[in-house]
Amino acid sequence: MCGISARIGEEGSLGPLLTSIKNLEYRGYDSAGVAIRNGDGVEIKKCGGEVAQLESAVSAGMTDGSIGIGHTRWSTHGPPTDENAHPHTDCHGRVAVVHNGIIENHAALREGLRGRGHEFTSDTDTEVIPHLIEERLEDGHDPETAFRSAVDQLEGSYAVAMVLGDEPAIYAARSGSPLVVGVGDSEHFLASDVPAFLEFTDRVVYLEDDDVVVLTTDGYRVTDGAGDPVVRPVETVDWTPEDAKKGSYDHFMLKEIHEQPMALRQTLHGRIDGDDVVLEDFPPGSFEGISRVQLVACGTSYHAGAYGEWLLSNDGIDANTFIASEYAAYPAPVDEETLVIGVTQSGETADTLEALQSARDRGARTLALTNVIGSTAARTCDDALFIRAGPEIGVAATKTFSSQVATLTLLAERLVRDVTGEPTADHEARLDALADLPEHVEAVTTDTRAEAIAQQRLGDDGHFFVGRGNAFSVALEGALKFKEITYEHAEGFAAGELKHGPLALVTSDTPVFAIGTGQHGNRLESNINEVRARGAPVVAVAPRTATDLMDAADEFLPVPATHPDLVAVLANVQLQLIAYHAADAMDRSIDKPRNLAKSVTVE
Ligand code: F6R
Repeated sequence: MCGISARIGEEGSLGPLLTSIKNLEYRGYDSAGVAIRNGDGVEIKKCGGEVAQLESAVSAGMTDGSIGIGHTRWSTHGPPTDENAHPHTDCHGRVAVVHNGIIENHAALREGLRGRGHEFTSDTDTEVIPHLIEERLEDGHDPETAFRSAVDQLEGSYAVAMVLGDEPAIYAARSGSPLVVGVGDSEHFLASDVPAFLEFTDRVVYLEDDDVVVLTTDGYRVTDGAGDPVVRPVETVDWTPEDAKKGSYDHFMLKEIHEQPMALRQTLHGRIDGDDVVLEDFPPGSFEGISRVQLVACGTSYHAGAYGEWLLSNDGIDANTFIASEYAAYPAPVDEETLVIGVTQSGETADTLEALQSARDRGARTLALTNVIGSTAARTCDDALFIRAGPEIGVAATKTFSSQVATLTLLAERLVRDVTGEPTADHEARLDALADLPEHVEAVTTDTRAEAIAQQRLGDDGHFFVGRGNAFSVALEGALKFKEITYEHAEGFAAGELKHGPLALVTSDTPVFAIGTGQHGNRLESNINEVRARGAPVVAVAPRTATDLMDAADEFLPVPATHPDLVAVLANVQLQLIAYHAADAMDRSIDKPRNLAKSVTVE
């Protein structure tokens, strides 16, 4: 959802800036640009297309300098043209600005500026910012005051960074969009997200909403919304630069699929103690007084939330999952006994943050279940529980889903014990299976059958995914993964719903992936027979012991036999591999699917 970056140091900034915006391409990749303060004021290079195109433009001629800002864009206002690419500038080319987010009052601001003689060259909401700053500078304000006063006029969510041709500093502010400072020895960075500068520093400062930061060659200083100096803690992230690199894999998605065993080991590390769970900030009794749980999330995280709902409901907790954008507009009733869990790998998804805010405003207790320490969700919720999956760069979420479900399984155990006074029905077996999950996922990631099946299924009219119980949430997730990276039609259904409508779509050109968990086997077998009777080829994805499903289906993708509550996580890994190999065979842009971006920070 746009990545912004800035760097100040002793040596040239162009190389590090290009690296950092390339590292942020998962946030948007339809245009890119940089502005460098060099001997000739501020020089801007920008173009439609990915950072690779910008690199060519830069290598054709740009003078380096030690201070600069960069941007990789996911279009909101205006198509991905050269003109709409950031950075944007003022009438005289003195001010250069990059921005992530949406300026809601840009039309009114633009009209006012036009009336005062300003001319615009793009369709973006961003372009008003350098013009507002220009006005303040012309009124005689110093750069920091001019920047702050311009930003104060903006409504909406933003992270903005500015460089001036005649000042050796970078100015930045955030409100509703993430911004983090990277603290180096003789250089400092600013970015929308930590992977931007991981190869340069692992020391970070997460800025708060309304903070303004000024970076100079001597260091950085932060002031709050009132202009008072504030100290934000310097934290050290334990992600390595290699975590955010593809290594020998062709795509980040494939790397991240294969990283799942390691990610799950991190997720579970120290959190299972015999037949009990240990959740660092949640000792026994933490959820006493909670009588209802609501999970709010989007996309893949919504599917993980639905999985969590299923676990909790099965264990007797009143739990419901909501699509965050719907919840924000049509909130479900809450009270002080309601725990609202925001399931969000980035912790920055605007819809989820809005839903959490709505819950908080109405008196509910909120908890962020997220991958990103320092994210907005983690900082604004009453509590945070981290999934510890490590950085995920591929736009299609993979390892974060598995780690979200594993974390929700742990959380369910704590919640059920606190709310009912008893452990879950077969907690020992479920926790044993959870401890075995990394090994079981490893067995799936080394299985090569999915690739062959994916290749047989190219050119079909549509792809259907069906399951019951927690496998229904995985059916939805399998379909989402398939459609987002292959661009082919895919839909997930509760298996029992087929006969209530979707069966009309089933033909010999619509393969059906049937997900079995070891429960409701007979019913799923009936559903398989229903679609096979209409000619559809069926791939069953189920524990290797499910011989009934193996016999009923045309193809069988086995997963290790384990506790039925966790089989669907394993089946999901097979479906990730199906989607990946189908998209690869179709030569799709797997890590950067069209029209999408990771971390959707607009509503
Ligand atoms: C799809 C995917 C998205 C995200 C969704 C929410 O592969 O990754 O559907 O799950 O945009 O993002 P987070 O989890 O960051 O809130």
